[in-house]
Amino acid sequence: MHKSSPIGDVIIELTEIDSTNNYAMRLLNEGMAEHGLVIQADFQTAGRGQQGNIWLSEESKNLLFSIVLDTSGLPVDSQFMLNAMTTVSIANLLMTEYQLPDVKIKWPNDVYAGKRKVSGILIENQLRGSSWSNSIIGIGLNVNQRNFPDMLRASSILNETGKLQKLNQVLKKFLTIYNQNFLTLLTDYHLHFNLYNNMLFNQGMEINFIKNHEMYKGKVIMVNERGELQLEVNGRIKSYKHKEIDILLS
Ligand code: BTN
Repeated sequence: MHKSSPIGDVIIELTEIDSTNNYAMRLLNEGMAEHGLVIQADFQTAGRGQQGNIWLSEESKNLLFSIVLDTSGLPVDSQFMLNAMTTVSIANLLMTEYQLPDVKIKWPNDVYAGKRKVSGILIENQLRGSSWSNSIIGIGLNVNQRNFPDMLRASSILNETGKLQKLNQVLKKFLTIYNQNFLTLLTDYHLHFNLYNNMLFNQGMEINFIKNHEMYKGKVIMVNERGELQLEVNGRIKSYKHKEIDILLS
């Protein structure tokens, strides 16, 4: 793990690409991507979201980027730490730099303003043998897009604040926060973890979820250090992995 090399010193800017995560992965596999490399695109023809979803974004309106990280110094069981730290970094950016109201983190790593999603994160980890060698952190952050299909329940910095932003400035501000947080990933883990839980969407609320084709009700308690969502179901606390359940929108 590179303790001193800053993230975002080199930024490759693309007009159009299938997906910045795919591009970063191709470079990594060819040995052409160093720790900290950022790939940014104006438009993605096959932008990918969590669980095989597609990520749609109007051309040149939003930030679409991927960061290549060397994670070889990190314990393989600390993948959720990186996940939580990344999500908290986006949430911090939106709160401190743009004063977005009611910023929340929806498990596992969506960032919301009120009931609308402003950012989504797709982290792809590469293992070499049993050790964690690299991560590709793919971030979609809605900045200047005004209109979204209703079903996406999405928003942007523009819609929340009424102000247009320069994309490269938003990226620069994010990278400053991210560099600081990455350096303290292990030492400040509890800080990121607590911030993550303090901003957890629907905390204390009853939600409906599907597991093995059956619907259940559960109260959102917290996310544990393995990144599992803890729900109180019929008076008992149960922990769920990301792919184990589907949460129904209320
Ligand atoms: C999600 O909320 O489902 C995650 C969305 C992640 C989207 C970003 S945009 C940049 C990077 N490239 C991709 O294809 N996906 C991520």
